[in-house]
Amino acid sequence: MKIIKKIEEMQSWSDEQCRKGLTIGFVPTMGALHQGHLELVKLSRDRVDITVVSIFVNPTQFGPHEDFNAYPRQFESDSEKLQKKNVDVLFAPTAEDMYGAEFQTSIDIKDVSRGLCGEFRPGHFQGVATVVLKLFNIVKPHVAIFGEKDYQQLLVIKHMVHDLNLDVDIISHPIVRDSDGLALSSRNVRLSQEERKRALIIPAILIRAQELFNKGEREVAKILTACVEFIDREGKLNLQYLEIRDAHTLKSISKIEREAVVLLAAHVGNVRLIDNCILGSHETLN
Ligand code: PAF
Repeated sequence: MKIIKKIEEMQSWSDEQCRKGLTIGFVPTMGALHQGHLELVKLSRDRVDITVVSIFVNPTQFGPHEDFNAYPRQFESDSEKLQKKNVDVLFAPTAEDMYGAEFQTSIDIKDVSRGLCGEFRPGHFQGVATVVLKLFNIVKPHVAIFGEKDYQQLLVIKHMVHDLNLDVDIISHPIVRDSDGLALSSRNVRLSQEERKRALIIPAILIRAQELFNKGEREVAKILTACVEFIDREGKLNLQYLEIRDAHTLKSISKIEREAVVLLAAHVGNVRLIDNCILGSHETLN
């Protein structure tokens, strides 16, 4: 596996692969890789000739009081994991190279970035969209793969690609969960044993919503009320939001008439976790 740190080198490497007629798949990450990331790599390797993974803890998507400094960084073990999965290139630029002192551009995808994480993390999706667009321009992928755990992020990126006519296919991969149901996240390593146990209420809430939906309930308010009652009964959770939205537009809905998504964000100790589940068929999301 080739490790590239310089932007120009990455660009010319990608140009060379394109000249050879090879297709490039791209998995952007912030490192602290887990099985969920490795599944994205596998999906890329199944679809295209060459796979590039980036590791870049992007400062512009963290708010001033968020966990940028505490975000886990484990470059050596990450690169070993990627090597074992036969990744072709690991791209790991520095923040100085990505954002020179004169950097002043920001991409704002309006409606779909508002509300949910956009409400609790002002500026977050501008930071994500801007860095992803930069990474696309550097890596020049034909296909880019994102996990569905960051569901709003996925829709923000799909919107950006559509609105700006970017020539990249966005493919998503379903959430990968641990055997106890907790969605894999780089932030999970920051949970104490006790917090990890408490965090299991998060997938349990989603299961509760799913059960009600499967029994035929279509009123959003009724499903949410039952989920809140479940939280009150089962334990404490420092919830930021729990919502059901249209799965394709993220618009608010009161009745589920086509695919919907239950989205939640909560703090367990100091660790902010997000999770979601689709109500209805999953097939048409890509
Ligand atoms: O999902 C992530 O890890 C990040 O938001 C991304 C897409 C790599 C952009 O920094």
